[in-house]
Amino acid sequence: MRHFNEISEVRQQLRKWRMAGERIAFVPTMGNLHRGHLRLIEQAQKHGQRVVVSIFVNPMQFNDQSDFEAYPNTLAQDGEKLSEAGVGALFLPSTEALYPEGHEGQSRVVVPGLSDILCGEHRPGHFVGVATVVAKLFNIVQPDVALFGEKDFQQLMVIRRMVDELCFPIEIIGVLTERESDGLAMSSRNSYLTAEQRQQAPLLYRVLTQAKSQLKLSTQSNETVEMQAIEVLQTGGFKVEYFTVRSAKDLSKAGVETQDLVIVAAAWLGKARLIDNIGLNLG
Ligand code: PAJ
Repeated sequence: MRHFNEISEVRQQLRKWRMAGERIAFVPTMGNLHRGHLRLIEQAQKHGQRVVVSIFVNPMQFNDQSDFEAYPNTLAQDGEKLSEAGVGALFLPSTEALYPEGHEGQSRVVVPGLSDILCGEHRPGHFVGVATVVAKLFNIVQPDVALFGEKDFQQLMVIRRMVDELCFPIEIIGVLTERESDGLAMSSRNSYLTAEQRQQAPLLYRVLTQAKSQLKLSTQSNETVEMQAIEVLQTGGFKVEYFTVRSAKDLSKAGVETQDLVIVAAAWLGKARLIDNIGLNLG
């Protein structure tokens, strides 16, 4: 696996691969890699001859400076996992390389509407930071295909819309959420949980699964299902930001006629902000 810190160097390598007719599959990450990331890489290998991974903890998408500073850095282990997984290139830009003048005054990519609801409402500016850094990385790597996890469902939608509306010639692939054996979605932020909270944490996915079963029966309104779920989570020690039934097409509030649904949730357990979702089709 080749390591690159400089934009010009990674571009040079990618130009060679592209000239040789090789398809490039790209997986952007913030490091602290777990099985969820590795699943993306495994899928990437099916879609391209060369897999490129980036690790960059993007200051522009953190609305809380202490969250940014506390973000776990496990670069040595990450490098080992990636070379074992058969990744061709690891791009590790410095903050100065991506934001030479700082990120505040820099050109930005706004995906309106979708960026302002749910996680965007609770983390103002977050999706502008995500869309901007992903657009920059796309322009540097120029992949044929890029892979994102369904765990961050809203992020995946923001990226899809950006790619569509700004005409990036890149295919976006969503990858199923990788879970611990007790159902907890894998996340770098799970390491913020105490041993006791770690025991409580799978409740989020259990409640999502339960809500899905209730909605399938169609005997209760979406609002009732949401309210019951929030109550169970609060009793289980969670501080719920949102737990809501949405259209899987655009994350708008689901009405009685909406068939393609996703239940999205964000909740705090101690210092960890957990997000998860589950899809269902009533068609
Ligand atoms: P990060 O949290 O490191 O996640 C990198 C990719 O891994 C994202 O596409 C995310 O959805 C996916 N992922 C995380 N946990 C997963 C799981 N349990 N199962 C499947 N996929 C999972 O998301 C980001 O970084 C950043 O916002 C980024 C897109 C890199 C932009 O900075």
